[in-house]
Amino acid sequence: MYRISQLASRVGLSRSALLYYERLGLIQGQRGNNGYRYYSERDVQHVLLIRQLQAGGLTLSECQHYMHSQLDRALLQQRLMQLEQETAAKQQAHQLLSALLGRSSLAYWHHALDQVAPDAHLDWLQTQGFSRKDAIQLKWLSKDMNTHDQYMHDFMQIFSGVSQWGPGSREDTLAALANVPFSPQQVVDIGCGQGHSTLLLAQNTQAQIIANDNDESALQRLMQTAEQMGLNERIKPHCADMQQLDLAKGQFDLLWAEGCAYIVGVAQALRCWSPLLRPEGVLVFSDLIWLTEQPSDEAAVFWQQEYPAMTHLGQRLEDIANSGFKLLHTFTMTEQAWFNYSQPLQQRLHELESELGESQAWQDIQTELSIYQHFLGEFGYQMFVVQKP
Ligand SMILES: C[S@@+](CC[C@H](N)C(=O)[O-])C[C@H]1O[C@@H](n2cnc3c(N)ncnc32)[C@H](O)[C@@H]1O
Repeated sequence: MYRISQLASRVGLSRSALLYYERLGLIQGQRGNNGYRYYSERDVQHVLLIRQLQAGGLTLSECQHYMHSQLDRALLQQRLMQLEQETAAKQQAHQLLSALLGRSSLAYWHHALDQVAPDAHLDWLQTQGFSRKDAIQLKWLSKDMNTHDQYMHDFMQIFSGVSQWGPGSREDTLAALANVPFSPQQVVDIGCGQGHSTLLLAQNTQAQIIANDNDESALQRLMQTAEQMGLNERIKPHCADMQQLDLAKGQFDLLWAEGCAYIVGVAQALRCWSPLLRPEGVLVFSDLIWLTEQPSDEAAVFWQQEYPAMTHLGQRLEDIANSGFKLLHTFTMTEQAWFNYSQPLQQRLHELESELGESQAWQDIQTELSIYQHFLGEFGYQMFVVQKP
């Protein structure tokens, strides 16, 4: 026989817990002649049985109930389901914490966060110490705050060796320019990179051109080339975020944005660039769209990760109409545009394979090129020439 303190140490519960058990009738001490309560070996085993049932998630009052009746399978199944949900939530919490500590990839988390809270995501990355430029690059390129610096170092090493940073061709740029219904005088080339379109615009117009990009090295390269071509007098570099362009409102008759509206989101780009244009000013931009209703799984999965907002022509025409612009012309860019981008890039990957072949940046770019190679035609870049009222 056990006194209550002995029972407590035997079963690993407090005295007050055992008194509560007793009040529920789960154990029954016998009062001795000396006034103390004594508990039998049966009481010990009852408590141990109850603790086993509690370990399966039953409440004390359920344990009390099932000490005297058969288990209710429906209740157990419901409890099991609840437990499975809690376990899954804990596993997710574990994965996230370990990813935040850099032990696994954060790519999925950044992607999921971006779907539900893109602005808060961007702001939060900046509170974590990333510049706005890095935060944007993280979202589009490195996709992992723990490996961002190394990724961007490798990425820029690859891209610094190629002159064109997005699909584009002389033919496509000039075809779009031919649909601008006036001779532009004041132009901004937004997200111009190393200036594939800037230089063509300078050669084919008399305009003053502001070349905007948030990458200083790209603008330096552009200005070197412009100088060699004798075009630097009319091109002014402007290193700034395309979403926060500090330029005079209503002063520009042409805005050019090849391969970069997706960074802001097309609808948002139309909204935030429109104030820079004078009335009847024109915006030319290109955007990656689906050209088929039923893309291959591999292409669909890839672009869902890389450009989740990618859509069909109809949706883009709606965005244009909703933003108050009038469509002047649209066309799907030529294969040459892709070739100009992908050939030198593939060559650059070959050159750097022994040095960077294991890096995430090298592998991501290789995957992108392989998607172009296999599925181009299911998607393509569409050029839009749109006019402000
Ligand atoms: C796909 S590349 C296109 C470059 C160029 N328009 C072309 O067609 O070759 C996108 C460009 O946008 C620039 N960029 C990215 N985010 C930017 C931002 N927030 N503000 C300004 N430029 C940005 C990149 O540095 C890069 O040069």
